Amino acid sequence: CIAIIDFGSQYTQLIARRIRDLGVFSIILSWESSYQELLGLSPSGIILSGGPSSILEEQSPSIDKKIFEIGVPILGICYGYQWIASCFGGKVEKGGKGEYGRSSLSIIKNSALFEGLPAHFTVWNSHGDRVSILPKDFEVIAFTADEPHAAACNFKKNIYGLQFHPEVTHTEHGDKILANFLFEICHAEANWNLGSFIEESIEEIRQKVGKERVILGISGGVDSSVTAALVHKAVGERLYPLFVDTGLLRQNEAETIIKLLQQSLGLKIHLFDASQQFLDRLKNVADPERKRKIIGNLFIRVFEKAAQDIGEAKFLAQGTLYPDIIESAGSGRKGAALIKSHHNVGGLPKKIPFKLIEPLRYLFKDEVRKVGTLLGLPHELLYRHPFPGPGLAVRCLAPIKEQNLRILRQADAIVIEEIKKAGFYEKIWQAFAVLLPVRSVGVMGDKRTYEYTVAIRAVESVDGMTADWVKLPPELLSTISNKIINEVEGVNRVVYDISSKPPATIEWE
Ligand code: XMP
Repeated sequence: CIAIIDFGSQYTQLIARRIRDLGVFSIILSWESSYQELLGLSPSGIILSGGPSSILEEQSPSIDKKIFEIGVPILGICYGYQWIASCFGGKVEKGGKGEYGRSSLSIIKNSALFEGLPAHFTVWNSHGDRVSILPKDFEVIAFTADEPHAAACNFKKNIYGLQFHPEVTHTEHGDKILANFLFEICHAEANWNLGSFIEESIEEIRQKVGKERVILGISGGVDSSVTAALVHKAVGERLYPLFVDTGLLRQNEAETIIKLLQQSLGLKIHLFDASQQFLDRLKNVADPERKRKIIGNLFIRVFEKAAQDIGEAKFLAQGTLYPDIIESAGSGRKGAALIKSHHNVGGLPKKIPFKLIEPLRYLFKDEVRKVGTLLGLPHELLYRHPFPGPGLAVRCLAPIKEQNLRILRQADAIVIEEIKKAGFYEKIWQAFAVLLPVRSVGVMGDKRTYEYTVAIRAVESVDGMTADWVKLPPELLSTISNKIINEVEGVNRVVYDISSKPPATIEWE
């Protein structure tokens, strides 16, 4: 594999994705990981990522310099390059205005890294510091107008440094540069593909589980469904998938998921109806954080009870993905301010009476979808919009009770149906309805009405971290509005949410 040491760059995951797309397995390690952990991977090459820190600051991220003795090729990108330069006695300094965005790179010396590339091409930069004096034994292999040492190499030790980012799409030939590093320099084998991943995972799960039973919380989302498919292939009927109906689900949600998984995989899902308990506990609760806490805690209790009813299970399978477990340094994720206490309905407390199986722990979302396709899961299930763990509770700002949830469910179903009909569903990140605790006056059939307001939210996003509202065509919004007001009893006004994230969030609570 290729080991990527994360110095906190926002692009670290992108580097990992690019390497995997080239057919080589990549693993991300935090710069705080131990040297032993790195050695344990027996990497055929090491990439040092960029990062937000400055090498000139005290206690800036650093790793054990013994990595230079392992004898495998090393590629430092941005901060990674500056770190290498400073280790070998070069000089790094503040580069005045820095270099951000595009620049034209000129190659001045042949190297395996730039093999097969044109003499000049566009690269993408994002750095304040720069390597001002190269260390001994390092040679410049390319420069830009602002950066005389844009790329350097120590040919004896097979160490490369790039001030620009080959992993971003704005850098021309970025993939070729990474491919050269993998295949010309590290001599890595392109043997990573999802077909072999599936076979190996199934074997691993079989070995681990033996004759025991496995339970799995199905949430209706992609991750738990694909986990179910994989574990089912490995242990068959000894997998017990459990679906907890919290009473906060979308229209026909439980039925739809159970049917889709039954038809595609022959999975028999155990439905556990806890809706009354959830509704009782949420009565008169309006504070969003309290709602989330109540739901999180109750879910755990209900899940444990339901698992007991099913019978003795030693293992619990979870659909944890790679981005959830990467411990990224310096990226602000550690100790970040609490915006919302996210809780995944598939998620569980820290101390649990089960051994965990997390077969998707090394995969990215798009890889999970591909695995799901290979395992025969329907497209409809794999490309559903994300749905928050606390369900409709965080979209029902009016008092949480059966009647209001019914209004919200019907309105939401109309939003989704019309957005699908208009061909927008798979083009956007998420769309849904929100029931506001606001009543306003209307007139219907010559009579005064005084009823609730529904807000429609539709956003585009790449990862849910930032988002923008979708400019849906006015005709579509009009159709949705008319349908909701005419068909959903209790609503006489529909508004469209035109806020981006930040400063708003995607969900309303
Ligand atoms: P926000 O509202 O924080 O949402 O902008 C970002 C993305 O996360 C989803 N979301 C959740 N997902 N458990 C989840 O599994 C949660 O508690 C939760 N809250 C929000 C939200 O739907 C959006 O896609």
